[in-house]
Amino acid sequence: MQNLRNDTNTFYDAVADYYHLFYRDWHATLQREGSALRRLFRDRNIKKVLDASCGTGTQAIALAKLNYEVTAADPSFKMLLKAREAAQSYEVANDITFVRAGFLELPYALVDPYDAVITKGNALPHLITDDEILRALRNFNRLMRRDGTLVIGIRDFDFMLEDRPRFVPRHVHDGSEQDTILFDVWDWDDGPPITVTFNTFIVTGKGDSYNVTKYPVTYRALRQEELKAMLAEAGFVDVKSETQLWELVFTARKA
Ligand SMILES: C[S@@+](CC[C@H](N)C(=O)[O-])C[C@H]1O[C@@H](n2cnc3c(N)ncnc32)[C@H](O)[C@@H]1O
Repeated sequence: MQNLRNDTNTFYDAVADYYHLFYRDWHATLQREGSALRRLFRDRNIKKVLDASCGTGTQAIALAKLNYEVTAADPSFKMLLKAREAAQSYEVANDITFVRAGFLELPYALVDPYDAVITKGNALPHLITDDEILRALRNFNRLMRRDGTLVIGIRDFDFMLEDRPRFVPRHVHDGSEQDTILFDVWDWDDGPPITVTFNTFIVTGKGDSYNVTKYPVTYRALRQEELKAMLAEAGFVDVKSETQLWELVFTARKA
């Protein structure tokens, strides 16, 4: 019997210092995320944005740089700390409201009606059950003005469920004092619901001497049709999707 409660804070608090290395070039990703979101927001009269899974600020900082009014929420204390530090170096720390809350706590932490709610970086599938995902989508809906825009970025699990890959390489970062190598071993569980645990191995060292630590975190292997049905049930319409690099990005409108 699998554990349906997912402790993501242990994982994210532990990897927060390495999180930028999960990207080949985190700063370039931040710029690209800003441009991609600005394109999705065009002609939708969006000023006030809630980033509901901000992590280290990949999207929140980019949006603040583009002069959106940003609230950035995340349940991981260390990820929020890194986000604030990064926002300082991008000189937007005072332009972002940081809030420590997960998707299911949002209505207790925030009241504002937002023009847009975003959750990118495959964060929503950290919720494992239909019930939790639906509650999160209803929370987004409740925090949005009528006609507001929802943006959800997740991995293309439909595609991966075909092959169920086990070994998934990430990146090699050559450093002057130490190199960092990241790769995953994925453990699939038939459930129901089907889940996959990403065991991320972080290898650090130089020359012939390396240390390795394994960090596990679990995701619901959320299929597109499942998410679309839940979006409709939570009161969203005009659902569209597009692929942005590794991420399947859904946009929807509050009815
Ligand atoms: C892979 S990171 C993505 C961060 C950022 N959006 C990005 O694209 O770089 C996933 C984030 O989701 C957050 N998270 C995990 N469980 C969550 C939950 N129940 N509610 C909201 N955020 C959650 C984690 O703390 C983590 O910061």
